[in-house]
Amino acid sequence: MPKITFVDSHGEAREVEAEVGSTVMEAAVRNAVPEITAECGGGCACATCHVYVDEAWLARAGAPSEQEEDMLDFAYEAKANSRLSCQISMTPELDGIVVATPDRQG
Ligand code: FES
Repeated sequence: MPKITFVDSHGEAREVEAEVGSTVMEAAVRNAVPEITAECGGGCACATCHVYVDEAWLARAGAPSEQEEDMLDFAYEAKANSRLSCQISMTPELDGIVVATPDRQG
């Protein structure tokens, strides 16, 4: 199974496994990764699953949709590498992806 490394706002890294086809957010919730609240359950309607995608993985993670871009306007301290983790579907190519979580959501 592909793996995801979440780095929290204190610099602590956690590696979790994610099924292909599941989202980065789902893997975070299943593994009780802190700093991801995902209040809307993956509907691209809350921006509380905000992550910063490591620069090395940005191209492979793909660009956000227009709807995601709009929601990112509500994310806390959004940056150029911000994504909503519920909108990143895991593929074998994303095995090893690294994302950082902000110290607060929303
Ligand atoms: Fe709500 Fe991702 S879980 S936007």
